Amino acid sequence: MTTRRLVLTRSAAVIGAASSGLLLPQIVRAQSDKIRVGFMLPYTGTFAQLGVAIENGVRMALNEQGGKLGGREVEFFKVDDESNPAKGIENATRLVQRDKVDVLIGTVHSGVQMGIHKVARESGVLNLIPNAGVHIATRQQCAPNVFRTSFTNSQPTLALGKTMVDRGHKKAVWITWNYAAGDEAFEGFEKSYTEAGGTIVKKLGLPFPNVEFQALLTEIAALKPDAVACFFAGGGAAKFMRDYAAAGLNKTIQLYGSGFLTEGVLDAAGDAANGVLTTMHYGDSLNTPRDNQFRLEYAKAFKMQPDVYAVQGYDTGLLLVQGANAVKGDLSNKKALYAAMEGATIDSPRGRWTMSKAHNPVQDMYLRRVENKENKVIGIAQKAVADPATGCRMA
Ligand code: PHB
Repeated sequence: MTTRRLVLTRSAAVIGAASSGLLLPQIVRAQSDKIRVGFMLPYTGTFAQLGVAIENGVRMALNEQGGKLGGREVEFFKVDDESNPAKGIENATRLVQRDKVDVLIGTVHSGVQMGIHKVARESGVLNLIPNAGVHIATRQQCAPNVFRTSFTNSQPTLALGKTMVDRGHKKAVWITWNYAAGDEAFEGFEKSYTEAGGTIVKKLGLPFPNVEFQALLTEIAALKPDAVACFFAGGGAAKFMRDYAAAGLNKTIQLYGSGFLTEGVLDAAGDAANGVLTTMHYGDSLNTPRDNQFRLEYAKAFKMQPDVYAVQGYDTGLLLVQGANAVKGDLSNKKALYAAMEGATIDSPRGRWTMSKAHNPVQDMYLRRVENKENKVIGIAQKAVADPATGCRMA
């Protein structure tokens, strides 16, 4: 009886909408069509393997729901963003306007994210950020339809500075790619390192995704700091660690980084990565039942080991599942959808985390050391690290 009344009410609404000529397409689509999920990720270039791990993670979370979201079938659309900021707006627009995605999942590179962010704010499309940490997306330009499941660029390095000083490394050189992610990682590092009593001897940089490190490594050798701290990721990170070791610096100057340095690249870096210390919201040896189960299933499904990017993708999927289930698959019910996602606690392989008011994870940062191709967790660097969300006012 209840079901029948619901059906009647619904068809009455459809007829009403049809006669007004307005709402019919949306209603029919909301009830019957597949949910359209767009991936805008790097599938080529220095971050290619990050994009693949993220997509794998999202698919794994959806597969745990029989491939459905809130009971509805899912259709995927993909764009390779090449980590190229110049094409960011164009690529995001293609997914939103041509493919008419209900949700845009992307991306890795902070510069490209700014293109997605513009399109998301103007179109109102739901955007889930599975990696890029660009501050403004959850600070001054935070938005009701934009949720991040990864980190802000300064979150991992906020936990790094004090850790280094506590370990007796009080004079450091900082080195990174000169773009938003590197600059903002420095912001967190500078704050935590100097507040703990450390001195930054020199700040070095090179353009993204340049990997000609030689001249900079020579300069580091001459400066003789107690330690080097850095932000690099993907293929470029593996090359940096190899060059650092080839120059003999790994024997004399302890290398630290935000944990991206050693994620997904330990095979490529080989012995050069041994002993590198990093802070990150994940590690390979958490050894919790939740993480063990995730790692086993991921390895079985994709024939490779998971890393932090796979976890962030998986958590993006978990968040979407929670939201879609709360609105029974009707993603056009934005108020209820966003409320469910904002209040979400994600039972992540990294450990449970909550969504901040600015739509960014509040999460623990682990200290890890590379041993035998593993990011071994050796402690908690800082608990419940939250981004300050400066200037965020939700519209
Ligand atoms: C970024 O550009 O925000 C970025 C890229 C790769 C990472 C982390 C952050 O591993």
